[in-house]
Parts: sequence; structure tokens; C-alpha cells
Amino acid sequence: MTNPPPGERMRAEIAAQPDVLAGLVEHRSALAEVAARIAAAKPRFVLFAARGTSDHAALYAKYLTEVHLGLPAGSVSPSTTTLYGAEPDLTDVLYVTVSQSGGSPDLVEATRSAKARGALTVAVTNTGDSPLAEAAELAVDVAAGPEVAVAATKTYTATLLSLYLLIDAVRGGTAEAVADIGELAAAALAAEGVDEAVARLRFADRVLTTGRGYSSATAAEAALKLAETSYLPARAYSAADLLHGPVAAVDKDTAVVAVASAGRGGDAVREALEVVAGNGADIIAAGSAAADVPATLRIGLPTTAEEIAPILEILPLQRLAHGLALARGGDPDAPRGLSKVTRTR
Ligand code: F6R
Repeated sequence: MTNPPPGERMRAEIAAQPDVLAGLVEHRSALAEVAARIAAAKPRFVLFAARGTSDHAALYAKYLTEVHLGLPAGSVSPSTTTLYGAEPDLTDVLYVTVSQSGGSPDLVEATRSAKARGALTVAVTNTGDSPLAEAAELAVDVAAGPEVAVAATKTYTATLLSLYLLIDAVRGGTAEAVADIGELAAAALAAEGVDEAVARLRFADRVLTTGRGYSSATAAEAALKLAETSYLPARAYSAADLLHGPVAAVDKDTAVVAVASAGRGGDAVREALEVVAGNGADIIAAGSAAADVPATLRIGLPTTAEEIAPILEILPLQRLAHGLALARGGDPDAPRGLSKVTRTR
């Protein structure tokens, strides 16, 4: 059998997202039992454990947990358990491990340990028969289907939406805000400006990504995707953190990818971009509020409730990473030195 051309797998997986997302909304009753168990447990605190792209989905869920459930939420460093043997009491804690593969040993060990220390453990994974799903008491299947390209695309947005639907179900919602997510995703994938952004970044040496609030997750994920597929050193900062020092390094040779969606996060990012633009940076803005921020190129997206925007914002940025990798002579399906499942301890 002949191999597909470079980037074909990632392209097909990017294109599959509207159907994957619509399917998740249609079958959201699959989450009802896990949501009911969480609601009945009445956790006092939520901890997320994850790596890489899955950690960016967890960051999004951390915002949702605090804003929509009114519960404090945090991110775990698995090494406190796996390297240092720490055993803090996790009574009344909901411990959510997010992993597409469910196969990294540190996440599995940290989840087992959390269960032993009293937490209610939930695995959010694309691999229902994984060691992680087995280790946790409850499991959510993000139902993205097999993902073959090394760079995660459909598993990322499926994880974002699964976490949104789970949290919505815990608070007794009806998922109204995502009823049309399939159509919205198709429109976001067709956004104009991506090819021009590829041309702009083709010879870039470094890029900085930024967003605020829910969109911080998008900025982090865009930086990871650009780095792993295009070998472009990319660094993400929340728009607030950017102003606390790193902005001093921004000049006319800095490419900035900014995520700006309608809402409080978008308003906050605008303030930071005014400073960044003053330093002469070349700003590419993506999101439903892209037209309202200083930028040299804009990728406009449909307007949604602010908490839904990250599911759409990443779509043109995945296309950017894919197109840029090809333009720079790489194969985004198989970046050098990476494999589909990374095992850390
Ligand atoms: C990047 C990517 C990785 C994974 C990370 C965690 O595109 O896929 O960053 O997200 O290695 O893997 P899982 O989710 O399988 O634990």
C-alpha cells in the first residue's frame, strides 16, 4: 500500500471535526451517568492532570469549572506523586485526568494514587480500553474516532466539547449553546486569511501566541501545534502574563498570533495588543473579535457564547500549522522525533 502524500492524514482529521463535534452533541446522553455521579459526590475542589494538547483542554475545563460550577480548580504536576512520592489528602476532590491515548505511565500512576487518597477519579480519553480508563472510577469517551497523524486535532476539539458537555450536565444544563456546533465548526474551518497567514509566517524565526480567559487554552495549543509541525519556536503567554515582562522582547521582528473572541477575554486581549502593536510586531488575529483588535491580518470567526469560542478558534490555527509545515518542507503527519503516544514517568 502506498503512503498518502505528506500532511494528508492531518488534513483529513482537521476536516472531520464538524461531524465529530455534531456527533458528540447528538449522543451527549452518554455523559449523563458520569455527570450524575459527580453531582452526587459534591466535590469541593477539582484537579486536572494532563500533558501537552490534553493539558490545554484541561486548562479550558479549569475556567469552565470555576466560572460555571463555582468550584476552585487547579492543575496537577504528576511528578509530585511519580517522582517525589507526595501523598496529599484528596478527600472531596474530583480528579479529572485528560489523555487522548490514556497510555502515559505518569498519568495512570497519578490517577491510581489519587483514587487511593480519596478523590473521585474520572478519565477523559479517546481510548476506552486504555490503562487510564481502567485506573479511574469513571470514564468519558471523547469519541473522536482513530487519530493517525501525530499532531492531535480532532481529539483536541472533541475533548474540549466533551468537557463542556460534562460540566454543563453536572450543573443541569441543556447544551443549548453548542446545539449548532457542527455548522459553526464548518464555518470556522472555511475562514479566510489562513493562506495569507502561512505566507506571512513561512520565514518567521519565532512566534508568540496570546489570548486571555477561555482563549488562553487556544493560544497555548496554537503554539504547541506550530512548534511540533512547523518546527517554529512558538511560545504562548496569557495576555496578562505578556504584560508582566515578556512584552519587552517584542519588536518588529516578532510574529504574534493573537486569539480575540467576543467577550471579556477578547476585551482584555485588545488592551495587551495595543502595547504589542506599539512595539511594531506583526499581529495575526483570529477569532470573532479579530476585527476589533490591532492586527495586520485578521481571521474572522462566527460569534458564539465566549465559553464555546475555544472549540472554534483553534480550527483555522490547526490549518495554519498544517499549511506552514508543508510550506516549510515538513510532513505534519509525522514530525521528527515524535510518536503518537508519548510515555513519561
Ligand atoms: C500534540 C499531542 C501531544 C499529546 C500529549 C499527551 O499534538 O498530541 O501534546 O497531547 O503527548 O498525550 P495524551 O493525550 O495521549 O496523554
